[in-house]
Amino acid sequence: MNPQTAAVPTPSPAAEDFMPLNGIDHVELFVGNASQAAFFYTRAYGFKRVAYRGLETGSRERVSHVLQQGRIRLVLTGTLQSDSEITGHHTRHGDGVKVIALSVPDAAHAYREATQRGAKGVTEPHEITDDHGTVKLATIRAYGETLHTFVERGGYDGAFLPGFERVDDGTQDSGMLLTIDHIVGNVELGHMDEWVKYYEDVFGMTEMLHFTDEAISTEYSALMSKVVTSGDGRVKFPINEPAEGKRKSQIDEYLEFYEGPGAQHIAVATRDIVGTVTELRSRGVEFLTIPDVYYDEVPARVPDVADQVGDLRAQGILVDRDDEGYLLQIFTKPVGDRPTLFFEVIERHGARGFGDGNFKALFEAIEREQDKRGNL
Ligand code: FE2
Repeated sequence: MNPQTAAVPTPSPAAEDFMPLNGIDHVELFVGNASQAAFFYTRAYGFKRVAYRGLETGSRERVSHVLQQGRIRLVLTGTLQSDSEITGHHTRHGDGVKVIALSVPDAAHAYREATQRGAKGVTEPHEITDDHGTVKLATIRAYGETLHTFVERGGYDGAFLPGFERVDDGTQDSGMLLTIDHIVGNVELGHMDEWVKYYEDVFGMTEMLHFTDEAISTEYSALMSKVVTSGDGRVKFPINEPAEGKRKSQIDEYLEFYEGPGAQHIAVATRDIVGTVTELRSRGVEFLTIPDVYYDEVPARVPDVADQVGDLRAQGILVDRDDEGYLLQIFTKPVGDRPTLFFEVIERHGARGFGDGNFKALFEAIEREQDKRGNL
């Protein structure tokens, strides 16, 4: 069985781009303990700590550590008060993605277009200023309690945003991870198409069409997935919903433990996945294990990597291909206590898919972990 995947963006219906996106500006997680989360992501994942906001900077409600690696910016935010919105969010969801912030040339324009096209506004366009300049922000709702913030940086030259202090604590950008490739959202059964439509309507994104054996991938993955992408492909958001499969869906498990829809995984790109995963493992990052027999078929499925199979097998890296090339990918175990948010490391060689051909092997691996938690 060799499901083929090809991903081709459909032509944009609108000639002008009403919602130009420069890319993902940052991803903000609400966490139970921002200091310890920062320790984890710097030590284990190789991020550099670049900015801070907390009591020392005059922030009495929330504390944030800003980490950077390549073009990836993670903001880890906790709270100092029991009546903060963060407390409630964390009580419901555990550690999770709160904001997927998008860099835009004009935040007010983006907010106006988005809300006129059906997005629910959360924070109207506003400016924040410090000695380094002015940043314009505006926020709309996405799936569940997740938000999208539009960030217009203009000529701002501070460490992150006004209100944050630059940090130079000796942590280094390890150079392993370069950029965010995609961020996946899990939504409830029957809601995937509604959220695909939201991204089409509000952001002018288009669905990437997959030519894959859906019956096979759904049987094993127990999920339905569609991918929306911005015109230039810089921002890609796969949206999953549960489906009937061989076992209880991992999406159902996520929705149960996240207590609603939310971001399931952040995929980060690397140029050397074998070296990166070797290093991440040595730093303590744990990955899903892949059945050894998976690798028996790899040379036939993806001849390009035949020479590498020994390394891929040793590190548990998955391989998939489509008409345009191949990709290598691996999934971490959940990063928090709940079986919700995790990371993916991906190295693309032409392929623009998301590893659908790996569903069978991947989900066998995920189901083993689910079984250990008594949730299968
Ligand atoms: Fe992914």
